[in-house]
Amino acid sequence: MSRGMRRGLTSYGDPGFSLFLRKAFIKAAGFSDDALDRPIVGITNTFSDFNPCHGNVPRLIEAVKRGVMLAGGLPMEFPTVSIHESFANPTSMFLRNLMAMDTEEMIRAQPMDAVVLIGGCDKTVPAQLMAAASADVPAIQLITGPMLVGHHKGEVLGACTDCRRLWGQHRAGTIDEPEIEEVSGRLAPTQGTCMVMGTASTMGCLAEVLGMALPHSGSIPATHADRIRAAEASGRAAVRLAADALRPSEILTQAAFRNALVTLQAIGGSTNGLVHLAAIAGRRGIRIDLEEFDRIGREVPVLVDLKPSGGHYMEHFHWAGGMPRLLREIRDHLDLSARTVAGEPLAAALERAEDVPGQTIIRSRQNPLKKTGAMAVLRGNLAPDGAVIKHSAASAALLQHTGRAVVFEDVEDLTRRIDDPDLDVAADDVLVLRNAGPKGAPGMPEAGYLPIPKKLAQAGVKDMVRISDARMSGTAFGTIVLHVSPEAAVGGPLALVRTGDRIRLDVPDRRLELLVDEAELDARRREWAPPEHLQTEQRGYRGLYLRTVLQADEGCDFDFLRAGPGPGGRTVARTPDT
Ligand code: FES
Repeated sequence: MSRGMRRGLTSYGDPGFSLFLRKAFIKAAGFSDDALDRPIVGITNTFSDFNPCHGNVPRLIEAVKRGVMLAGGLPMEFPTVSIHESFANPTSMFLRNLMAMDTEEMIRAQPMDAVVLIGGCDKTVPAQLMAAASADVPAIQLITGPMLVGHHKGEVLGACTDCRRLWGQHRAGTIDEPEIEEVSGRLAPTQGTCMVMGTASTMGCLAEVLGMALPHSGSIPATHADRIRAAEASGRAAVRLAADALRPSEILTQAAFRNALVTLQAIGGSTNGLVHLAAIAGRRGIRIDLEEFDRIGREVPVLVDLKPSGGHYMEHFHWAGGMPRLLREIRDHLDLSARTVAGEPLAAALERAEDVPGQTIIRSRQNPLKKTGAMAVLRGNLAPDGAVIKHSAASAALLQHTGRAVVFEDVEDLTRRIDDPDLDVAADDVLVLRNAGPKGAPGMPEAGYLPIPKKLAQAGVKDMVRISDARMSGTAFGTIVLHVSPEAAVGGPLALVRTGDRIRLDVPDRRLELLVDEAELDARRREWAPPEHLQTEQRGYRGLYLRTVLQADEGCDFDFLRAGPGPGGRTVARTPDT
């Protein structure tokens, strides 16, 4: 395999000329022959004025370059798509696969012996790991890092669990307009990603346990000097990865994905983490087994005391020892021989884990935050291919509940009617939102956190059972059933629910049932038609998305981007030899 500038030459029918021309052009940028003979480390530049979660990327790139050069390599920075949660219409999930395709093809097209992927905001790390898994060029993930906490009236605040909590209070009339404006300036006080255990923090932790990021690097605050040092170390490590030709395919194995599922339960991670893991695994021809994930959750408790399941923030997790310390606590569930970009097996990180006297953020197995894992997988006639609930952040009293369905046809219908004083709804009803899945919305928006109807919120109702084919921000909380598959827009049973039907949720029994007899459901099925946007030809990326996006249980990747045997391929059902 050719190295450095000789890799992947542009096709002119004369390789010598291709190299000559490539060097002629790059010399215009002032590079010497000595520099151009070095191994090349590509560095993704995902800085964007629209992405404050990546505000520190320029400084990280500078430090990665320093690390690469100290180790004798040539760093080459290149731009890719960058996505921020609040600046992506219709949703960031709609664009994740675009970023993954862009990143994969740029890694493949340009000559690099290794690549440092700098990401942080929710969809960027999954997109980059999907790209790395497919391009299979030695790669290391560098996380931009979480923000520091905010403060308001003596209370510690964090994006975005407290964004939702305080907005809920504003809707209920207990926080007025001037105060909510003041709060908006205090929730996200520094550059970096949301600092609760939302999707960004979850993916930072998972990048470490998957072996794709350096140990204890995923949780360093974005603004801390250690973050810069981690960038330098990642640059050095990338040169070593290039020399060893250690590829993502040797790191992203079945064992690594099972380790990630264990971790996702123990950290009280985001439900989105499960979708992203399915997508990354799919790129290696590995299928995430939801039943195995559920079994793990019955054995592995939530040990990390972070919002929304607990009470603290990522900087506290980091200084309590971060991932290495947590992994030591759950070591008997992990395959410690899994390889990592540090050039050592996962076991090495655990051995170096710091013991912080008196810390209470990373709990022991004897004193867990929750006795079981964060999430449960539900099945039943309403979700034949599964649905997910983050029961660690739900109301215990609602985990077994039967109630009357109040149905919203789509996100627009929800927006129009949820606060209508005439809406026929009571506290023990079940709110149902449909046509908000991968194809329905499209882009599977984080609309699963249906607001409590205003009149109930004002009466003091804080939680209700809510069910949808949408996603939910990892920072949110409540008794919320998500990712109902198949979604309503492709004819899943959610499409058949009518206001007034009875729905039974039984989390201990893992069931989600629509209590309507089969003959009636068949009659409704015959009347059903797909939403209009799926019946008309769509152009461009939107058309590609609507034609090829998979359901949530398969990671919402495009069907043609998965690798290996595809659906029904290898599973992550194996118990590791420990
Ligand atoms: Fe970027 Fe939350 S908005 S991580």
